[in-house]
Amino acid sequence: MELKILISRQEIAERVAALGTEITRDFAQESVVLVGVLKGAAIFLSDLARQVQVNATFDFIGVSSYGARPNPAEELQHGWDSTGEVRLTKDLDQPIADKNVILVEDILDTGLTLTYLKNNLLARKPRTLRLAALLDKPSRRKMPIRADYTGFTIPDEFVVGYGLDYAELYRNLPDICIIPRE
Ligand code: IMP
Repeated sequence: MELKILISRQEIAERVAALGTEITRDFAQESVVLVGVLKGAAIFLSDLARQVQVNATFDFIGVSSYGARPNPAEELQHGWDSTGEVRLTKDLDQPIADKNVILVEDILDTGLTLTYLKNNLLARKPRTLRLAALLDKPSRRKMPIRADYTGFTIPDEFVVGYGLDYAELYRNLPDICIIPRE
């Protein structure tokens, strides 16, 4: 399978540094809890955290969607519209009541996952809740949700690398690459 680089590691590093600067400015003199959505956001969170110059703690949340996921080849061709019914597979380790929380996600696609997670976390009464998404595919959106911190807006292509997978593969690629749909 021929992969084509869409966003290089240098471009990612520069953009992530800029997002870190924004977060540092927005939360000056405060502390934040960075909540990564497993597994795709792990690499973005680890790079972003090192660009944030305020006290920060980490937590992780895991989700899986109900409904039969198509096989990877189908998902690549047509994308996948889950029903929006999401189930937690791993909850946070710590309470977030009265904390400044930044939910860190790899990609905002239909918006169903982040809408569910946002409502789930808001019910725990954080002081503030912001969303950070490395990638945004606005053309696929089904729910009216936007990120407060967005890395890159991209076209409707299936991308892998820097945490994103195709059938669990390619998460370790340093660049963000397109898998051609042929
Ligand atoms: P949403 O609920 O449709 O916004 O789904 C977001 C999730 O779909 C992400 O966390 C990814 O796991 C997955 N996803 C969406 N687009 C892509 C892609 O281009 N490559 C890899 N995973 C993707």
